[in-house]
Amino acid sequence: MQYRRDRASPGVATRRAGVRAPRGHGNQYNGSVIVEIDGVPLHLAHPDEIPVNWVGQEEVMRQLLAAWLVIDAQDLPMNPRLIGKPGVGKTTLAYAAAKRIGREAYIMQATVDTRPEDLIVQPVIEGAARLRYVASPLLTAMIRGGVAILDEGNRMSEKSWASLAPMLDTRRYVESVVAGIKIKAHPQFRLVTTMNDDASTFDLPEYIHSRLQPQILIDFPERDEEYQILKENLPFGEERILQYVTDFLQHAHAADERYTVRDGINIARFAMKLKSLATDAVEEARALHLSILETLGEEALRYFPRG
Ligand SMILES: Nc1ncnc2c1ncn2[C@@H]1O[C@H](COP(=O)(O)OP(=O)(O)O)[C@@H](O)[C@H]1O
Ligand SMILES: [Mg+2]
Repeated sequence: MQYRRDRASPGVATRRAGVRAPRGHGNQYNGSVIVEIDGVPLHLAHPDEIPVNWVGQEEVMRQLLAAWLVIDAQDLPMNPRLIGKPGVGKTTLAYAAAKRIGREAYIMQATVDTRPEDLIVQPVIEGAARLRYVASPLLTAMIRGGVAILDEGNRMSEKSWASLAPMLDTRRYVESVVAGIKIKAHPQFRLVTTMNDDASTFDLPEYIHSRLQPQILIDFPERDEEYQILKENLPFGEERILQYVTDFLQHAHAADERYTVRDGINIARFAMKLKSLATDAVEEARALHLSILETLGEEALRYFPRG
């Protein structure tokens, strides 16, 4: 099989997998890219595609893009952290920012079980006595010069974060113990992590904290923007229902409730489904009422807009 020099990553050979896929594994192989680093073939992950545009809230977008800029030959990009309540738009912002700068986006979900090898290279058994090395989405972004979104990074243990420490400072590389290789980040590689400001978190030690700067806080949007966000996510949404749900969210924000636009999208979506089954005109209010109740529970009904 011919190797093709990958112009974007000097020193890295690339080939398409799939041509010689073993039987029974064809689909997994098809279209996946293999690069060779220090003689070790690595199977790369696929970039993520989310069909959504970032609406309003330009200031946080500006801050994120600024953190990624390189303004001098001696400068380095930063590794920003997006913080906010669950459902305010952190993952969406990270993804949309990657698209703004025209890069591939690789979302990697962090959990309490995420181990260092999950973040870098995992060995997968491939038939008798053969190992296949699979690059994580994060490592794939490092190799291809994409954007890695380490989602909900606060769920991940210190041990896993520690394996990324050299990547997060001036060294910009990671080491795979499993494959016995050291991988340097492509100059265009960018990283962002998101963290919920709830209790489900590990307290990260200072040396990790200091490498994940700046911290960009995503807050609730203004009424106009919130309506536009609902509209963007539910383009088929009925005007009256979207307005109702916007009012509901704004009332809840004013009372500092945790409800976010994600809840709003769910409420509007379910209300429209309920309404589509209804037969009479009063059903709209009833559908919204039920939808709020079954999405957020009884307590949320106090923000139900009257009139
Ligand atoms: N500014 C925005 N523009 C477009 N969609 C948004 C915006 N903010 C939030 N959303 C939508 O709200 C939902 C929740 O956003 P998400 O990024 O998953 O939140 P988080 O990662 O903070 O939990 C998604 O459906 C997303 O499309
Ligand atoms: Mg998220």
